[in-house]
Amino acid sequence: MSATPIVSILQEQNVGRDVTVRGWVRTFRSRRFIALNDGSTIHNIQCVVDFEKTDESILKKITTGACIEVQGDLVKSQGAGQAVEVIAKNIIVHGESDPEKFPLQPKKHSLEFLREIAHLRPRTQTFGAVFRIRHYLSFAIHEYFHKRGFYNVHTPIITGSDAEGAGEMFRVTTMDAANPPKNEDGSINYREDFFEKEVNLTVSGQLEAELFALSLGKVYTFGPTFRAENSNTSRHLAEFWMIEPEVAFANLSDNMDLAEDFLRSIIRSAIANCADDLAFLSERLQNEEKQLPANERSAMSLMERLQFVADNGFRRVSYTEAIDILKNSKPNKKGKFQYPIENWGADLQSEHERFLVEKHFKCPVILFDYPANIKAFYMRLNEDGKTVRAMDVLFPGIGEIIGGSQREERFDVLRQKMADFNIPEEEMNWYLDTRRFGSCVHSGFGLGFERLVQFVTGMGNIRDVIPFPRTPGNCEF
Ligand code: 4AD
Ligand code: MG
Repeated sequence: MSATPIVSILQEQNVGRDVTVRGWVRTFRSRRFIALNDGSTIHNIQCVVDFEKTDESILKKITTGACIEVQGDLVKSQGAGQAVEVIAKNIIVHGESDPEKFPLQPKKHSLEFLREIAHLRPRTQTFGAVFRIRHYLSFAIHEYFHKRGFYNVHTPIITGSDAEGAGEMFRVTTMDAANPPKNEDGSINYREDFFEKEVNLTVSGQLEAELFALSLGKVYTFGPTFRAENSNTSRHLAEFWMIEPEVAFANLSDNMDLAEDFLRSIIRSAIANCADDLAFLSERLQNEEKQLPANERSAMSLMERLQFVADNGFRRVSYTEAIDILKNSKPNKKGKFQYPIENWGADLQSEHERFLVEKHFKCPVILFDYPANIKAFYMRLNEDGKTVRAMDVLFPGIGEIIGGSQREERFDVLRQKMADFNIPEEEMNWYLDTRRFGSCVHSGFGLGFERLVQFVTGMGNIRDVIPFPRTPGNCEF
């Protein structure tokens, strides 16, 4: 007999039926009550064992962490806490687990400790919930674009270009690090390398996505991206996943409309599809925050925060206006910002973004029209000659969740920008070709998938929303 997912048993509550359930033992109480979880839901099913009729050799093996199968009758539960339970008639132990050595004891563990055993943490309630939600978000994103006529493009992971021009790339090579082939002047001879040139892991699929937008109209990528930036923060990973839509004939205002509609739709979809997991995480967060002083607790619960973003529009504010607000803000005047805002042109730090969102506007914000010199070369220059049609979407608790822009579609202006940014034209001729042959207004953005998962799950650290985080000094598993 094949097993039934616990989620279906709990939903259907078809009492009086024979059922088989398979999963991992969370707890075994009084030699009688097994809490079994199979990952299909946050909820366990209770399996009731008659220890007088069960072999001692089997009872001994029902320990936290063991993998078992229970065949029995589904009945209305006698006890409080669950509607139905399985009266076990037969128990098969698939995989024993030494209770002395199993690191996940039925008690609360810190997230830091669980990060060290990232290979076992999906067996906990918290991480089960996080990774189920991560799946639903990914699915909802593909569905959102598919329904609106976007094509998914698989852009390369190994690339010769630095899309963001930030130079924070991981090199890909097959050369012997101890003894690389050299040129006469002592420099490394990449012509001897696998690709016969210097290549890296991609930091963004945008430039390639642009080529496809100017062919297929509306496209998006959803792939891994890599950044060798030495940022040890709760919002940075060296390997993360990014969603990058790119749309022909869309200007910056269309781009903002898309970003806002997209985020709100995905969040609505999470609210609709992940109710149990979100309820669990919302309560978890409230319990965590009880330990904080009252003024540091969130004004809204996780569920309220999600609903708020789903229901309310984002504020659109120009960079210039934001600088005015920040310059005159209390924390700036009182010297509370680590990076004080003095002049127009300053790059905004996470502390400024969070002030605007959490303290000033109290809602998600889209900042646009940034100074050209703090943004990437491909953004469209405004008439003023000093700002570009850039936009960043800022979220409470997260800061920047999306970065995007209208692209520079004019050949001459783009070429000049590349020269200004010291980008060798020979290497980017393929990109310039889109502007040589049938260019048009187009726009796009990049959403950091883990930052979205952070926002939706309320997890404070980005390392807790990706199965195996890669950060400076850490590449376990
Ligand atoms: O703002 P970024 O650097 O923009 C781009 O890469 C553009 N090419 C996107 C585009 O227009 N198609 O990155 C986009 C988003 C950020 O807003 C952030 O959410 C996320 O990617 N991100 C990171 N997430 C986790 N760890 C990091 N180190 C990240 N760097 C960026
Ligand atoms: Mg950015």
